[in-house]
Amino acid sequence: MKSIKYAFGMSLIAMAMSAGTAQAAKLTLYCSAEEDWCQVMARGFEEATGIDVNMTRKSSGETFAQVKAESSNPKGDVWWGGTGDPHLQAAEEGLSIAYVSDMRGELHDWALRQAASADDKTIGIYSGALGFGYNSDLLAANNLPIPACWKDLLKPEYKGHVQMANPNSSGTAYTTLATMVQLFGEDEGFEFMKGLHANINQYTKSGSAPIKAAGRGENTIGIVFLHDAVKQAASGFPVVPVAPCEGTGYEIGSMSIINGARNLDEAKQFYDWALTAAVQSEAWKVKSYQVPSNMAAETSPDAPDLSTIKLIDYDFAKYGSSDERKRLLQKWDEEVSILPQ
Ligand code: G6P
Repeated sequence: MKSIKYAFGMSLIAMAMSAGTAQAAKLTLYCSAEEDWCQVMARGFEEATGIDVNMTRKSSGETFAQVKAESSNPKGDVWWGGTGDPHLQAAEEGLSIAYVSDMRGELHDWALRQAASADDKTIGIYSGALGFGYNSDLLAANNLPIPACWKDLLKPEYKGHVQMANPNSSGTAYTTLATMVQLFGEDEGFEFMKGLHANINQYTKSGSAPIKAAGRGENTIGIVFLHDAVKQAASGFPVVPVAPCEGTGYEIGSMSIINGARNLDEAKQFYDWALTAAVQSEAWKVKSYQVPSNMAAETSPDAPDLSTIKLIDYDFAKYGSSDERKRLLQKWDEEVSILPQ
């Protein structure tokens, strides 16, 4: 009897010791959507699963560069959000791995097409159209005309009044560059970028920064995704979103599991969870007005209606390919960013 009690006692001690040393489940999340939405995703997953989430927000191009730099010793598990082009480039360069989620049947075709063009190494989580927004108070105070088209932004009277992000760090700005090339042809697209450069007051790191600055009254016109301009207007700032008259490009915001993820089971759990209607319906509560990829997710009545916007047939496979993205960014660095202003 005594020895049975002793053995039982010892096994309890062993259990307690192993529980003490066992690692708590965790996930390292790289997030490239808006900071407040990233927080909702990180904290929401912790609450739903008890898995600790270590989240960092960086722009899409920056995150791509980080995942690439860490590829011999990966630190991230899931890259959630940000424009799809660098996710596609990551897939092509072997920086992410294929995963086929059971949630796929609930998704829009455009989200699945993104997966198909990357051999299942990424998937669409939201979509949104590019455009610009202006601060109506500043526009009036400076006696400036209301811009309606991309080409309006080249007018000399807007000098110093336009802001966009740097396409190397920002997916929004790379979408802008790739949109101009597709909308106007490569030569005219680059001429547009050069003309725009003359009016730019600052290239920011993050894609939405120019419209946040417009909201605060520190900048007049910001080239951003329309939903980011709507967010400022819905937050009470004098920002007016514009869907440009010539037509415009759009993004398929994406999600990828990083090749070499240390917490692969947790990464897959997050991936499935992030594709559910309930989770995607949380977005607009933090004024993120993208179109969700889950067909049953709720959207806000304030969200831009993509069916009313003239969208180009954006070639994601081409502009998300490693060679093309590198080539366009290098050309922008060498032919546009170095020009005097
Ligand atoms: C904002 C938008 C997202 C977009 C992201 C890209 O957060 O709301 O829809 O995917 O910008 O960020 P980046 O800083 O790379 O332009």
